Amino acid sequence: MDPLLQRLLTKTHPLSAPVDYVLRLAKGQLHLPPFRLRDVGPTDFEATGREFLGLFVKLANLQPNERVLDIGCGCGRIALPLTGYLSRAGSYTGMDITRKTIEWCQQNITRRYPNFQFVQADLFSQRYNPTGRYLAKNYTFPLADKQFDFIFLTSVFTHMLPEDVENYLREIARLLQESGRALMTYFLLNEAQQLLAEQSKNDINFQYGPGLYRLWNEVIPESAVAYEENFLIELIQKCGLEVSGPVYYGVWSGRNDGLSYQDILLVKRSPVGY
Ligand SMILES: C[S@@+](CC[C@H](N)C(=O)[O-])C[C@H]1O[C@@H](n2cnc3c(N)ncnc32)[C@H](O)[C@@H]1O
Repeated sequence: MDPLLQRLLTKTHPLSAPVDYVLRLAKGQLHLPPFRLRDVGPTDFEATGREFLGLFVKLANLQPNERVLDIGCGCGRIALPLTGYLSRAGSYTGMDITRKTIEWCQQNITRRYPNFQFVQADLFSQRYNPTGRYLAKNYTFPLADKQFDFIFLTSVFTHMLPEDVENYLREIARLLQESGRALMTYFLLNEAQQLLAEQSKNDINFQYGPGLYRLWNEVIPESAVAYEENFLIELIQKCGLEVSGPVYYGVWSGRNDGLSYQDILLVKRSPVGY
């Protein structure tokens, strides 16, 4: 996007709302969230939503009548295509820490699809909600145990620190029904990724941090966080879950056989129990 237009569209610019509206009108995108709420990088907004819906069906066998939880749902990039897939027997709950995105989803999605609900949690993130009052590491989702068939986090754990991720993994184990599945994306650090990093092929240079997890930006840690693969898999197990199937590596690290952009893990409840 043109840099001048990008400046006009920043949340604080006084002309941002009308410019955003005219631009969406011109592009035939009034059904989509305002550009200023689409804090999801430069990818094609609708194509990415469709891509993930396809992956949910292909990798996790998502069915139209299932109960779905989208943690870190943002402005509804994945919820929008799901409105065309989940039936009235199914349901969708979206949760995020940014109030404006949740308000847009409530006003524009829930109104038309009452089985799609959105909730905000005022949790701190230096990158996404710097005035947040509570900590993600202590957060209990206000949702009953074993309530969901499918839980997903797309590009969310890539913006969260280890103690917060650990708490969310325990919560996911609590919220999944016995045969439920969860799909989550990560930036994984491993030998193959390291070799590609040495050839400057990683898209993101995770240069800061202790090794088990590494950061792209030291000042705003949640800008992008990568996890050492074995550390993460052990953490998943410690939290009452287990990886189901292979790791689906993404192309972010420079691999040319990646399935998506980020690395994807599919997990289920561990039989030894939570
Ligand atoms: C790159 S966006 C991805 C949004 C959405 N999942 C998608 O794929 O379009 C990252 C999202 O994670 C959310 N997020 C960051 N920390 C979070 C936390 N602790 N709990 C829930 N959501 C969080 C942000 O507010 C933001 O909406």
